[in-house]
Amino acid sequence: MRPLVKSFKIRDIEINPPLILSPMAGVTDISFRRLIKQRGGVGLTVSEFISVEGLTRNNPKSKRQMRFYENERPFAVQIFGGQPERMRMAAEMAEEVGADILDVNCGCPAPKVVKHGGGSGLLKDHPRLETILTEIKKAISIPMTVKIRAGYYDHTINAVETAKRAEGCGAEHIALHGRTKEQGYRGLANWDLVREIKQVVKVPVSGSGDVTTIQQAFDRFRETGCDGVLIGRGAMANPCIFRQIEDVAHGREPFQPTLEDKRALLLEYFEMLQQDMPKLAAIGRMKQLAGQFTRGLRGGALFRTALYHSHSVEEILDRISEYFETITAGKQYFGEAGRPELVEAPALDSCEAMTAAPVLN
Ligand SMILES: Cc1cc2nc3c(=O)[nH]c(=O)nc-3n(C[C@H](O)[C@H](O)[C@H](O)COP(=O)(O)O)c2cc1C
Repeated sequence: MRPLVKSFKIRDIEINPPLILSPMAGVTDISFRRLIKQRGGVGLTVSEFISVEGLTRNNPKSKRQMRFYENERPFAVQIFGGQPERMRMAAEMAEEVGADILDVNCGCPAPKVVKHGGGSGLLKDHPRLETILTEIKKAISIPMTVKIRAGYYDHTINAVETAKRAEGCGAEHIALHGRTKEQGYRGLANWDLVREIKQVVKVPVSGSGDVTTIQQAFDRFRETGCDGVLIGRGAMANPCIFRQIEDVAHGREPFQPTLEDKRALLLEYFEMLQQDMPKLAAIGRMKQLAGQFTRGLRGGALFRTALYHSHSVEEILDRISEYFETITAGKQYFGEAGRPELVEAPALDSCEAMTAAPVLN
């Protein structure tokens, strides 16, 4: 019998293990991807979605978003937009910077993106989708892939049709997040659609949505026959999830990070952020994301509040030391004296947050 977790290829690029860090705007930047990659178990990383309007107008932020480290390969750049000409130009730019794969975002529900025909707007405008994919395909030699949603409205679920059309235009991998645009992030992702797509296209198919445990990953492979599984929010809460899945796939006990490992991970992430971006941006990102890694730990909410109130590198390092010293000693963490209220960074729960308030680098 075919092993449940088996590498697959996008053209000649091996995705091994078949676990993909799902693209997340405001999250999967160069530092976050580096952090996850170093934990192990990831077969492919994808950039945040990058605006083709920004890229083709030389917006420095958009260009920065294409950066990656050589040892991150294979690495995909994901672009979004609705204008075929700009999508083609941006795809060429991604190939020029050395990306291994060019991924087209056909799922972002943000009104700002959909209004211009991009993101999930492409799910209800197949002719535009086909024009864009055909244009891109003509222009690049690296594989083109797509990430789609179940459909635009809850009553117009058309993922199978979208996938077939994308394949017809030369897409070499289909990733499906099984929610509709209308659904946003409510309810659960429909993985039956992943199985249905797998049955009708020849290119590899991966599924995305709600995988947060080792068991769920194995279940989704088994139930759908998909080639790959994407993990997004689950990796924010547990950056070791890929490694743990890979451990179990190889018959090992899954790696269980100790408190010391978690502290080291936070420090490593902060160090990477400071290497990869200006200090203020690094502090902003740290406040936004570090808290995610401490969800479920004792006193975690107070720790996140304390981080949120920190304004310098030193303060952040002090808060991390205090927090971990306290909980390692088995004591109660009370946060900052005189600041009993809980204030957390706004939840990062979709690409919408980033298009509405692009505050982080
Ligand atoms: C904060 C956030 C940002 C996201 N940004 C993107 C994006 O830029 N491109 C994309 O294709 N999907 C994006 N998504 C969707 C995820 O890639 C993924 O498909 C979805 O969250 C479901 O998977 P999960 O339950 O593993 O998170 C985003 C999701 C979140 C939570």
